[in-house]
Amino acid sequence: MSEPLLRVVNLEKKFPIQRGLLKRTVGQIHAVDGISFDIAAGETLGLVGESGCGKSTTARLILRLLDPTAGEIYFNGKEIHTLSREEIRKERKDMQIVFQDPYASLNPRMTVRQIVAEPLIVHGMAKDDSDPAVDEMIELCGLSREFGNRYPHEFSGGQRQRLAIARVLVLDPKVIVLDEPTSALDVTTQKQVLQLLQKLQKQRGLSYLLITHDIGVIRAMAHHVLVVQNAKLVDSGNLDHILNHSTHAYTRLLVNAGYDKK
Ligand SMILES: Nc1ncnc2c1ncn2[C@@H]1O[C@H](COP(=O)(O)OP(=O)(O)O)[C@@H](O)[C@H]1O
Ligand SMILES: [Mg+2]
Repeated sequence: MSEPLLRVVNLEKKFPIQRGLLKRTVGQIHAVDGISFDIAAGETLGLVGESGCGKSTTARLILRLLDPTAGEIYFNGKEIHTLSREEIRKERKDMQIVFQDPYASLNPRMTVRQIVAEPLIVHGMAKDDSDPAVDEMIELCGLSREFGNRYPHEFSGGQRQRLAIARVLVLDPKVIVLDEPTSALDVTTQKQVLQLLQKLQKQRGLSYLLITHDIGVIRAMAHHVLVVQNAKLVDSGNLDHILNHSTHAYTRLLVNAGYDKK
């Protein structure tokens, strides 16, 4: 097999539990406990588990928005876990993240065009928001270029998430970490945003780490799946294996709960 695009080995994060006025450390939360995986180019790796199992912490560690307690992250031929803050910033062009809540992740004082142009300007890839790449990206993500001078609050949740996707995609990254990208959306809008992500993946050979508590999203999108319970990786395999053949009790529980909801 060829080298994976992203490789994570024994990733670990412990948060201190602090009490009292002096913030004495009285214990530790093991938020991520020894998680390993590979993602190949063009592939969607689903990471599923219930709330609090360490999904968002895993996402933040991979992008080094948080520093791991232990473990290794390899991306683009680099040891992400050993890079300095400055070096990490450069790598972020190729590894981006979309959060669950588009309301919180978009600056309310910036127009659509400014929001999409900002990362390009930061990375020295455009002078200002009149760069044609900006409007092209807005349209590619299913928004009209007439919306360019509007503000995020004028949009629906689905449109805002399209905007958040446009903002990361404009840098032409190789990997996008999607942390519950559709959990705040109604079912119809959720489907449309997932279809957009699939279209973009096909066009650009993108890799996704798709984080969700919703097995339905996994079923629609993932090629391979990781099942996480209480900070630990408890099961993994290709989509068909996880949905239809896994004998792991927790995986069966998640999959069956997903069918009950339908
Ligand atoms: N900055 C933090 N400080 C302390 N504990 C945290 C912090 N971030 C997350 N945690 C804890 O780590 C665990 C995993 O959280 P998280 O990764 O957000 O889970 P998920 O995204 O799967 O819901 C939870 O117990 C959470 O309370
Ligand atoms: Mg989370």
